[in-house]
Amino acid sequence: PLIKELFGLTELEEALRRHLGLRRVIIVSGDADQSQWVKKEMGRAGARLLREEARPGQVVAVAGGTTVAAVAEMMAPTPQLKETTFVPARGGLGEAVELEANYIASLMAKKTGGSYRLMHVPDQLSEETYRTVIREPHIREVLELLKTARIAVHGIGGAMEMAVRRKSSMELLRHLREKEAVGEAFGYYFNRQGEIVHRMKTVGIRLDDLQRMERIISVAGGASKADAIAAICSVACRDTLITDEGAARAILEKA
Ligand code: BG6
Repeated sequence: PLIKELFGLTELEEALRRHLGLRRVIIVSGDADQSQWVKKEMGRAGARLLREEARPGQVVAVAGGTTVAAVAEMMAPTPQLKETTFVPARGGLGEAVELEANYIASLMAKKTGGSYRLMHVPDQLSEETYRTVIREPHIREVLELLKTARIAVHGIGGAMEMAVRRKSSMELLRHLREKEAVGEAFGYYFNRQGEIVHRMKTVGIRLDDLQRMERIISVAGGASKADAIAAICSVACRDTLITDEGAARAILEKA
């Protein structure tokens, strides 16, 4: 409606930046719900940003999903990225292998000539196994490295879409519905107010860890993710959001 006629992309970026209280917003044209090509463009923008922001010797924490995978696909070597270590932000979250943070971190390293570390932690751990796993020297080493990350790159998903994609139990689906979860990032599910209503048990980054990082690059688009992005950006993003016109307009129209 009104918003559509009023704003060009640059104005839209500024309006959304202010609305979400972020440092920077980058919007690509189109809507990822409508075309795969738009996700590629978000990937290109993410890859460009990583190239510009990279410092030699840095650690980059990488989350999973198709959008962060699109960023990885667009990456290329630079002297700084060659001296970057890519580390999965969290252990297994029940995703298909090619959408796992582990795989995407290794893909970024492959594309840039950088290095990577893996965190082979199964999902759905019992409390006891979980405690044992995080004491493993190999896992502890990667977790220590993760604590020094300068940049995090992550996606945002719709809560129900992510729960279904992870083949979650009926019980969890019911819980998320009851708690009116709208979005998910890093294995945390949020309601519209940005409150955590469920967290998946795996090792890796906690939301508090994000506070220490210099850059948090959130990449998510498509009008269907509007509520998820709005909810999560109020708590977890704070830095840079790369999104598309479809999501941006939908967020501002609902505001
Ligand atoms: C998952 C991440 O792999 O991807 C989630 O663990 C994120 O935190 C999701 O929400 C986003 O997926 P996509 O495919 O919509 O980019």
